[in-house]
Amino acid sequence: MSKAKPSEWKRTHYCGDIRSAHAGKEVTLFGWVNRQRDMGNLVFIDLRDREGMVQVVVTSENKSLLDEAKKFRMEKVVAVKGRVKKRDEKSRNPQLPTGEVEVTARDLKVLSTSEIPPFVIADPPQATEELRFKYRYLDMRRPSMQRNIKLRHQAALRIRNFLNEKGFLEIETPFLTKSTPEGARDYLVPSREYKGRFYALPQSPQIFKQILMISGFDRYFQIVRCFRDEDLRADRQPEFTQIDIEMSFIDREELFNLNEAMMASVFELAGVKVEQPFPLFTYEESMERFGSDKPDLRSEREIRDLTKIGGNLGSTLIQNALSEGGVLKGLVVEKGGDFSRSQLDKINQKAKDFGGKGVIWIKKQGGFKSSLKLDEKDFGLIWDTLDGQADDLALLVVDEKWIALRILGELRRELVCNCEEKEKTFKFAWITDFPLFEWSEEESRLMSMHHPFTSPHESDLGVLEKEPLKVRAKAYDLVLNGVEIGGGSIRIHDLELQKRIFKILGLSSKEVTEKFGFFLEALTFGAPPHGGIALGFDRIVMLLAGEESIRDVIPFPKTTSALCLLTGSPSEVGSGQLKDLGLKRIKE
Ligand code: AMO
Repeated sequence: MSKAKPSEWKRTHYCGDIRSAHAGKEVTLFGWVNRQRDMGNLVFIDLRDREGMVQVVVTSENKSLLDEAKKFRMEKVVAVKGRVKKRDEKSRNPQLPTGEVEVTARDLKVLSTSEIPPFVIADPPQATEELRFKYRYLDMRRPSMQRNIKLRHQAALRIRNFLNEKGFLEIETPFLTKSTPEGARDYLVPSREYKGRFYALPQSPQIFKQILMISGFDRYFQIVRCFRDEDLRADRQPEFTQIDIEMSFIDREELFNLNEAMMASVFELAGVKVEQPFPLFTYEESMERFGSDKPDLRSEREIRDLTKIGGNLGSTLIQNALSEGGVLKGLVVEKGGDFSRSQLDKINQKAKDFGGKGVIWIKKQGGFKSSLKLDEKDFGLIWDTLDGQADDLALLVVDEKWIALRILGELRRELVCNCEEKEKTFKFAWITDFPLFEWSEEESRLMSMHHPFTSPHESDLGVLEKEPLKVRAKAYDLVLNGVEIGGGSIRIHDLELQKRIFKILGLSSKEVTEKFGFFLEALTFGAPPHGGIALGFDRIVMLLAGEESIRDVIPFPKTTSALCLLTGSPSEVGSGQLKDLGLKRIKE
C-alpha cells in the first residue's frame, strides 16, 4: 500500500471513460467499490465513479496489495494506480462500455471506509422509494441517477445557450414575495420584522416577468424554482423548475417557432430528431378528437362521432340517450379483441367512476359479439364508421357530450397509446384557444383556466361579461406524449381590460388593490404588448431520460406526501423561534 500523500495521487481518468484505446497506459483512478470478487490469488474490483465502472484486477504479484484488496467492501472509496490492459476475448463484458479492458493495479489507497449500505446500489433500484429517499446520496450513486442528473445539467445548459443566442437575458426574480395566482395554495413564510405578515413563495414568476417587460427588458428567461402546495403525483412536486420565458412585441407564431426550435435542440441530447412544425389543435378540437387537452399523439386513433348513425340503430338505450340530447362516441382499441371479461368490466367501472353510465363494447370474432344487442347490419355500420379491423375492440359511450369525451379520452390514454414504440417516439402538439374561464363547483364561482393575466380573444370581448364561459383565451399549452410540458399566453397589457377580468372573477376593488394594486399601477406606465410561456423543466428531463416520474430527475425530491425523508422536513420548530415570528401553535 502506498504511503503517498493524496496530492501525489492525481486522477488521470474517470473509471467509466477507460477504453481499449488506453491499453498500455498508466492510469490513476478514484472511485467507489461497487463489487469485490475474491478468487484466491486474484481479486476483481468493480470501481465506479460518475462516468461509469471499470474492472480493476489485483494479482498475487504484490502480496500486500492483494491482502489489502481482499478486505475491500462495498462503497469504500479507493484510489488505484495501474496499467490498462485489453481483456482476452472470452472475458470481455459487452454490457459495460469499459468491458473490453481492465486495469491491473500497481498500487491502491483507501481514502474512506463505508458502513454496509442499507440497499445494493444497482439499476433497477432494489429498495423501496422510502428507503431510497432517506439515503438519497446512496440512491444517487446508481448509474441511471448519475446519468439523469448529468442529462438535467446538459439540458439546462443547452437551453441557456439557445436562449442567449436568441437575445434573451436571464434575470432573477424574488422568492420572498407576494402570492402569485396559479391555482394552487401558497407556501407562506412568516415575517419576523412585521409580525402577522407573510411572504409567499412564488407559484411562478408570472407578475415579475410581466413587470420586466414593462421595464423594457424585452426578452427574458429564467430557469427558476416555483413552489405550489397542491396534491402531488408522478409529474408534480411541491417545488419544481420552470423554463420561464417572456417576450414583448411578438405574436403567438413567433413564440411557437422559438419553442419548437428550443425543443429540437434539447431533444438532440437524446438523439431524437424532432419534427417541426408541431401540429396545432384548438382546445375544442382536441377534446372532440382525443377526449383530452393533453392528447398523446403516439397513436393516430381518434374518437369518432356516431351520433348521426345512432338514431337509426335498433337500440332503445341509444335512442333514449340521444333523445335527451346525448351523443354517441366511439373509439377502437387496436388488437383489443382478446380483452377478457374482467378487463372489460374494469373499463366499464372506469366509465362509471367518470360519472358515466358505462361503456358498450363490440368485438368482431367471426360474427360480432357485444355487450349490446343489435342486428349484424347495425354492428357492421358502427364497425365501418370506426374503421375497426378483425382483432380490434370497439368501445362506445352514449352520454352527455363532455362525459362521453372524457371517458373515451381516458380510455384512449390508457389503452390506445400503448404502442410498442412508445419509449422512442416523441410527439409534440400545441393546444390553443382554451376557454378563458371555468366554473368551479367547489367555490361556486368563475376561475381563470390559466391565470387572470391571460388575454381574451378580441372577437369575444363583446360577450365577456354576458357569456364568460364562451370566451376563448389567447392561451396555449405545449404537450408531449400526453404530458403537459408547458403553458402560456398572450397577456393583457391594457389596464381597463385587466380590471374587467378581476371583476368577472369576483374580486372586489379593495381586494384587487390589495393583491394587485402595484401591478395595475405598472400597467399605466407604458406596458408593451407581450406574451410568454413556462415549460416544466423536470417534466421535459423526465421524458428525455425515459423516466416515468419527475422524482427520478430531481436530485432531492419530496415524497408524494410532500416530505423530504433525507432531512426530515417539514419539522417542528422551537417555541423561541415561533415567538420571534409572532406565531403560536394551535393544537388541533
Ligand atoms: P403553468 O401553471 O401551466 O403556467 O406551469 C407551466 C408548466 O410548469 C409545469 N408544472 C409543474 N411541474 C412539476 N410540478 C408541478 N407542481 C408543476 N406545476 C406546473 C408544467 C406546466 O405546463 N405562469 C404560467 C406560465 C405563463 O403563463 O407563462 C405558469 O406557471 O409542465
